[in-house]
Amino acid sequence: MTVLDGLRVRLRAFRDDDLPQFFALHSDPRVMRYWSFAAWTDLSQAQAYFESAKAGRDPDRMLCRVIALPADDRLIGAVTLYAINREQGRAEIGYALSSAHWGHGYAREAVQLVITHAFDVLGLRRIEADIDPRNAASCRLVEQLGFVREGLLRERWHVAGELCDTVLYGLLARDWRAGEAATRP
Ligand SMILES: CC(C)(COP(=O)(O)OP(=O)(O)OC[C@H]1O[C@@H](n2cnc3c(N)ncnc32)[C@H](O)[C@@H]1OP(=O)(O)O)[C@@H](O)C(=O)NCCC(=O)NCCS
Repeated sequence: MTVLDGLRVRLRAFRDDDLPQFFALHSDPRVMRYWSFAAWTDLSQAQAYFESAKAGRDPDRMLCRVIALPADDRLIGAVTLYAINREQGRAEIGYALSSAHWGHGYAREAVQLVITHAFDVLGLRRIEADIDPRNAASCRLVEQLGFVREGLLRERWHVAGELCDTVLYGLLARDWRAGEAATRP
């Protein structure tokens, strides 16, 4: 999966020149409100993330892609398939989009592309999303794609002094394929 082009968004690998936009994304308090760590305050935090990602990334366990618009190919977000477990046929998905680009359906398209890749190319059976129940936009996004709300995990996260619950969503390949078939002409 080098580049995946959707109707409007492109998913591509990270480049070193993505660093300023990647830092901007993770230092925006609106984007980071329900994230699993606090908003970054220093560019070195983005650098450290890049270095550790490059050093320790196992392509069989993690797939990180930039969300860009083809017109200028600049990073406007990121989508990650992580905790990939090929033996068990499952993975978790995470995503973030720059707040300047919210509300256009770009995130949904990016997540759709990764899900299709995960089911059709990697052969996974199940994808999970761990979402703060107050994160209405994220809950709506996955529900629209057919994820099922499977349970509430109380006080699962402790971020920036706040204890946060998780709603665990799950999507099965067979439900995804049935949904695709139903929308085919
Ligand atoms: C989650 C996120 C990617 C969604 O981006 P987006 O641009 O709003 O996504 P979409 O345009 O595809 O829209 C998602 C749906 O949520 C709805 N939505 C957006 N903001 C909402 C809000 N505050 N309350 C309720 N629904 C909302 C949209 O209307 C849309 O539904 P619709 O198509 O029925 O209108 C974006 O809000 C984000 O990056 N948030 C910060 C990072 C984050 O929390 N990531 C998820 C971690 S689990």
